[in-house]
Amino acid sequence: MSTPVKVKQQDNQFIHPWDDIVKIGDHKRTLLSRGEGVYVHDSEGNRLLDAPAGMWCVNIGHGREEMAQAIHDQIMDLTYVSPWSMTTSPAARFAAMLAAVSPGDLNNVFFTTGGSTAVDSALRFVQFYNNMRGKREKKHIIAQKRGYHGSTFLTGSVSGKERDKSNLDFVEGLVHHIDAPHPLLKPEGQSEAEFLDACVGNLENMIAEVGADKCAVFVAEPILASGGVIVPPEGYHQRCLEVCRKNDMLYLSDEVVTGFGRLGYCFASEDVFGIQPDLITTAKGLTSGYVPMGAFLVSDRLIQEIKDLGGDSAVFSNGFTYSGHPVAAAAGIKNLEIMQREELFEQARETGPYMQQQLQTLRDIPIVTDVRGMGLMACVECEVEEGSRDLVMDLALGSRIDKHCQKMGLIVRPLINMCVMSPPLTITYEQIDEMVAILRKGILLAMQDIENEKNSRGSADSRHPSPTA
Ligand SMILES: Cc1ncc(COP(=O)(O)O)c(C=O)c1O
Repeated sequence: MSTPVKVKQQDNQFIHPWDDIVKIGDHKRTLLSRGEGVYVHDSEGNRLLDAPAGMWCVNIGHGREEMAQAIHDQIMDLTYVSPWSMTTSPAARFAAMLAAVSPGDLNNVFFTTGGSTAVDSALRFVQFYNNMRGKREKKHIIAQKRGYHGSTFLTGSVSGKERDKSNLDFVEGLVHHIDAPHPLLKPEGQSEAEFLDACVGNLENMIAEVGADKCAVFVAEPILASGGVIVPPEGYHQRCLEVCRKNDMLYLSDEVVTGFGRLGYCFASEDVFGIQPDLITTAKGLTSGYVPMGAFLVSDRLIQEIKDLGGDSAVFSNGFTYSGHPVAAAAGIKNLEIMQREELFEQARETGPYMQQQLQTLRDIPIVTDVRGMGLMACVECEVEEGSRDLVMDLALGSRIDKHCQKMGLIVRPLINMCVMSPPLTITYEQIDEMVAILRKGILLAMQDIENEKNSRGSADSRHPSPTA
C-alpha cells in the first residue's frame, strides 16, 4: 500500500503563478483533492462545479478512466525518447491527427511543453522565416492590449495587460500594442461598421508608424480570453488578415484557449472567424490538461518557402527536451478521440448558446454591467456602481463573488471585477442552470457585502467629519 502524502494546509513552499511574494504562505487557497466530470471536490469533501475547467483546459472533464489508461499504457510501453534523434509512434500519429483537423494548409506541427512555449516558438519561427528570406529587419511584432500569450521573456512582452507590466522586465522596442477590439470601447454614436474600421485602422496605423518593412507578424487571440472574454466585431480577423497580407506580414492566431471545442470547433480561426492564419498556437484543451503539452501549427506555404530558400540546410534551432513527449502525445490522441467519438464539439455548439442566454439573465442585478462571450466561454463584468470606478472595491469584486460561490458549490474564475466561465465541454443544460443559479446568489451576496461596507464607511465618516466639511 502506498503511504499517503502528507498535505500541509499552509502552502508555504509552492510559489504560485502571479504570487504576491510578500504574502507567500498567507494565502488560503482552496485545496482540491479529486475531480470527476464537471465537478471537483475540496479537502473537506465539498463538491464544486468547475466553471473555469481548471484554467480553460479540462475540456473533456475530470477523471476520465480511459485517459488514465492511455497515459499508463504509454508510460509502460515507452516513457521517453530524445526528440532530436528519434521519433515515436504517438508523436508522429498525433501530429498527423492535428494536421487533419487544422484549417487549410497548416499541416506542420511543432510540439512544445505548454502555451507559452508554443507562442514563443512560433514567434521564433517567424524570426527564422524572415532571416531565411534575408529580411533581417522585419522582426517587429504587433499584438493586442489585454492579450495574454504566456510567461516567457518574449511572450510576456507580447502580452498586453498593463497591470502585469510593473515588476518585471520586457523586450524593448520590438513589440507594439494596439487597442483591443472591445465593443465596450465603441464611442457613442459610432456605427458597428465605423467601429470595425477603427479597430482595423489601429493595426494599419501601427504598421505605418513602425514601417511595413520592419513588421513581421500580427498576434491575436480569436477572442481575447483572460483579457476579459472580448469578442471582436464581426469581420475583424478577416480584415486584419487582409492588412497582414498587404504588408507582407504573417498572422499568428493564438488558439491556446479557443482551440479544442471551446467555441464548438477544433479550431476557431476558420470555422468561427473565417480565416486561415499562417500559424496557430494551441495548448490547454490539446490534452484537456491531463498532462502538459502545447504546439504550433505552420502552413505548407511557409515551409515550402523556407525549403526553396534554404539550399542544403535551414536549421530551426529551437526545441525542448519534451517536444513531442510520447506520454503527452498519447494523451492528446486519446483526448481528440474522445472529443470526436462523443461529438463534444457538436455538443458545445448546442450548450454554448444556452449558457450565453442563461448568463444574460443576470443583467437584472444592479452591479452587473456587462455579460458577454461566445460558445463555452463567458464573462460577467460587475462594477460597484456603474461608471464609479471605485477601484478598491471593484478590484476585489471577482474574488468576493468567487468566495461566496465556492461556499455554495461553484468555482468561477475571478478576474479583477469580472467572473469568467469556461466549463468542460461535457457540461449539461442542468449543470448550466446550476452554475447560473449559484452565480446569481454569489453576485447578490457580494452586492450585499458592498452595501454593508458602504454603510459602515458612511457611518464612520459621519462620526468623523472631514476638516473641510
Ligand atoms: C491565449 C493564451 N496564450 C498562451 C497562454 C500561455 O499558456 P501556458 O500557461 O500553458 O504557458 C495562455 C494561458 O492562459 C493563453 O490564455
